[in-house]
Amino acid sequence: MALTNLQPGSSGYIPELDDAERASRDEIMALQTRRLAWSLAHAYGNVAHYKKAFDAAGVHPSDFKQLSDLARFPFTAKSDLRDNYPFNMFAVPREKLVRIHASSGTTGKPIVVGYTRADIATWSTVMARSLRAAGGRTGMIIHNAYGYGLFTGGLGVHYGAEQLGCTVVPISGGMTERQVQLINDFRPDIITVTPSYMLAILDEFRRQGLDPRQSSLKIGIFGAEPWTNAMRAEIEASFDMDATDIYGLSEVIGPGVAQECIETKDGLHIWEDHFYPEVIDPETGAVLPDGQSGELVFTSLTKEAFPIVRYRTRDLTRLLPGTARPGMRRMEKVTGRSDDMIILRGVNLFPTQIEEVLLATDWCGGHFILELTRDGRMDQLTILAEARAESWDGNGLTVHAEQVAHHIKSTIGITAHVKAVAPDTLERSLGKAKRVYDRRPKG
Ligand code: DLL
Repeated sequence: MALTNLQPGSSGYIPELDDAERASRDEIMALQTRRLAWSLAHAYGNVAHYKKAFDAAGVHPSDFKQLSDLARFPFTAKSDLRDNYPFNMFAVPREKLVRIHASSGTTGKPIVVGYTRADIATWSTVMARSLRAAGGRTGMIIHNAYGYGLFTGGLGVHYGAEQLGCTVVPISGGMTERQVQLINDFRPDIITVTPSYMLAILDEFRRQGLDPRQSSLKIGIFGAEPWTNAMRAEIEASFDMDATDIYGLSEVIGPGVAQECIETKDGLHIWEDHFYPEVIDPETGAVLPDGQSGELVFTSLTKEAFPIVRYRTRDLTRLLPGTARPGMRRMEKVTGRSDDMIILRGVNLFPTQIEEVLLATDWCGGHFILELTRDGRMDQLTILAEARAESWDGNGLTVHAEQVAHHIKSTIGITAHVKAVAPDTLERSLGKAKRVYDRRPKG
């Protein structure tokens, strides 16, 4: 399949795109086949865990001849990475690593990932490509409010932004007043931050009496947590900007695994020349055809230090054909992680569903939490939804809250108690928002 619209001389030609972004689907698949053969052999030959797991499954890297053969190889779970804490998943001697990152891990040991110099170059390339797909260009100023440190967000975006030739403001998360001051003074074109913290920055603009629509920000690149198109509409209208979604995870590389293109905003193009996606049925492990929803699984194609084979992300989405970059598939916006799914009296619920309902009201701006409690033998869900300052009646907005509860009952099928709370009362996250508070008795 030759795709001409991105080729030189055609009307859709974008001069900045790199070869992989312009490649046809057939070219990408041929590249993936070559790279997967290398990556499987690299993992098997250099990581004891993969040798053991492949042997136990009765497969050898030489069994891989075409992309569909990948399904014969075993999955890698988060627990495999924990069991090999801290350095046993590395495929190169420790001295070859130039960087370590680690996921925070709310329970137990963190997951440690490492990068060679070449891995950092790969990461910078996919990250620069992501920023460009979001509308970023050489010479722009980026206000990078993703956290710097063991979290991959800050440094991942930083290196990509430098590679693209942007001026980076490495502000990290927190000190919200200062964030607003620097946005006003430095006049950045782009902000990179979690969507929930973007709402906190929005509140601070208003608190300081500033009109966010008058800010210099034209592009927002939001990720590291699930967020909805309703949230996109809220942020785009409030700031007069284009908001796109960026996806990634430490185990695969960090931010820059997939990115939404500004011209289509129709889900995230996966940079398939470096990361091979599959969607599986989380119960059976069977690979699902494109278009069907399930759990996203990734295999790295080029990583040296930390090759990852069929990693179960627990993120739920589906694969769709490429649009703005026709050779590479898209993933739909992530609905949520299977870990965050609430099962309430037999009905499955994700916080993103509640976000959508709340943002459809005119009184809630998107700050909310879900509380699970137990009353006798019945689980109860309470939604605490913060009112916009201009909507607050000082008294719980009872009628409005009841309307939301009714809407949730009729659309999602769940009985929830909805409590509107005063502006500025729910705790703000500096990075990923914590949406679910499980206060049910343990055991
Ligand atoms: O969150 C990497 C990142 C940083 C991505 C900055 C985007 C921007 P981890 O801390 O390892 O890495 O967390 C990875 O976060 O498995 C998803 O559950 C969730 N996640 C990341 N991006 C998105 C997104 C970074 N765009 C985990 N939509 C992933 C929904 C996301 N969930």
